[in-house]
Amino acid sequence: MSSVPAMALAGITKAFGATLAADQVAFEVAEGQIHALLGENGAGKSTIVKLLAGLIRPDAGTLRLFGQPVHLASPRAAHRLGVQTAFQELTLVRDLTVLDNMLLPYAPIGPFGLRRRRQGERLVRAHMAELELEEVDLHAEVRELDLALLQKIEIARAVFRRPRILLLDEPTSSLSGRDIDWLGRIMARLKAAGVTQLFISHRLPEVRRFCDTLTVLRNGRAIASHALTEVDDDQVIRMILGRALDQTFPAKPADRRPGPVVLRAERLAAGRLEAASFELRAGEILGVAGLQGMGQLELFLACFGMVERRAGTLAVDGQPVSLLSPADAVRAEIGISLVPEDRKTEALFLQLSGRHNASLPVIDRFTRLGLIDQAAERAAVGRAFDLVQVDRRALWTRVGAFSGGNQQKIAIAKWLLAESRILLLYDPTRGIDVGTKHELYGLMRRYADAGGAVLFYSTEIPELVGLADRVAILYGGRIAEMLPAEGLTEEAILRAVLGGSRALEEVA
Ligand SMILES: Nc1ncnc2c1ncn2[C@@H]1O[C@H](COP(=O)(O)OP(=O)(O)O)[C@@H](O)[C@H]1O
Ligand SMILES: [Mg+2]
Repeated sequence: MSSVPAMALAGITKAFGATLAADQVAFEVAEGQIHALLGENGAGKSTIVKLLAGLIRPDAGTLRLFGQPVHLASPRAAHRLGVQTAFQELTLVRDLTVLDNMLLPYAPIGPFGLRRRRQGERLVRAHMAELELEEVDLHAEVRELDLALLQKIEIARAVFRRPRILLLDEPTSSLSGRDIDWLGRIMARLKAAGVTQLFISHRLPEVRRFCDTLTVLRNGRAIASHALTEVDDDQVIRMILGRALDQTFPAKPADRRPGPVVLRAERLAAGRLEAASFELRAGEILGVAGLQGMGQLELFLACFGMVERRAGTLAVDGQPVSLLSPADAVRAEIGISLVPEDRKTEALFLQLSGRHNASLPVIDRFTRLGLIDQAAERAAVGRAFDLVQVDRRALWTRVGAFSGGNQQKIAIAKWLLAESRILLLYDPTRGIDVGTKHELYGLMRRYADAGGAVLFYSTEIPELVGLADRVAILYGGRIAEMLPAEGLTEEAILRAVLGGSRALEEVA
């Protein structure tokens, strides 16, 4: 390994209006190392990535790559120096095919490009095979693919361009289990080939698995850099938050008297969901656990009118309901809302302000004689934002400018405002930092304590243990088991979701 760092930042400063997103940031990464960049949502991680990718320019400071001071005036300049990026907000073009995206921005277009195109396709195909992605249909349009696959293609594209420095901004926030293992293999291979990598993630276990060194950012400042072996998780969390995290989960109510059943599903079938029956009560957080693809997504979508039911019934307050669309679900007398895993494309309109996003489902309430009462709207949305502890700046700022955690809180504020009584949360803390997660947990508990009912799916089993009053185990499209709060442990949930030795063989 050479003694000159592959990447060295010194005094890097970048302001967006009044926000100092990077404040005299300094750290170094040795060649061939994997360096983690950690910090809460809004700490400035993506800003550093965008500076290194040539997407934005620093107000001050110097950047050296392999010892040379560089000015990255454009993404192309960064590419020429061997810097490639898989961005947090995926940058694939939705209307193009996988192949065209892989070849962008250098895709040969027009009839003269045809031969080079075939050549390009051969290269991409070989590359995808190398990355264990041979099953990806290169001619599929990107918009048809699910989020996890898009994320993998975003990574594959960056790797395809043979980086010397690879920047990975929260790649695992949309990946789970096997896909994270996949990424670990790819990163290890690149490392063996001498590629220097910057890895951003909120999950400490994978940071430990993948990375050599780390830098913690807080409020735009680099707090400290360490080798992973020098610090334990508690120290890392303290650096991230600037304080110790007293207690991860809010206390569950000690003396729980179950409220009335607000949502009842009987033999619900949709997609992989075969026949799911359960009752959700007012005042409770009902957890849902299952291996990937056991029908959990369909369960949530069916309760929100987003997929067609094949069979079975749903009842709200004892009355059978037929939810043909989300509009049916959010109607006042039903009052169901959903916060989906991909808030970027499903929960929020990124171009609109937080105020417009939040009031959209209930805009009728602020309309008098066809005109929107802006003051009333602003006041109501402001109160909802206070509840979820989002800066009131979100009232007028475009939602896309906010960090993932804040976007998630705005999505929840929207449903608080709609006064929904049933909240469907599908893996809501994915890609969210520890501090914001903590706030969301508190929010969920307060919502239940106030008489709301929460159906809560999480891929993180400790969250189910810490939050759920009961846990419904999905197996083979059915609720195979209902675990009570007493004796709820990670091990008990794991054993139940694996459904015995037969299931163990299936996942092996
Ligand atoms: N284009 C932008 N315009 C205004 N503010 C921005 C912009 N990009 C980032 N910010 C702000 O800069 C801060 C750091 O953001 P970011 O680097 O995205 O954080 P992280 O990736 O650590 O979550 C946040 O307060 C964010 O709101
Ligand atoms: Mg970010």
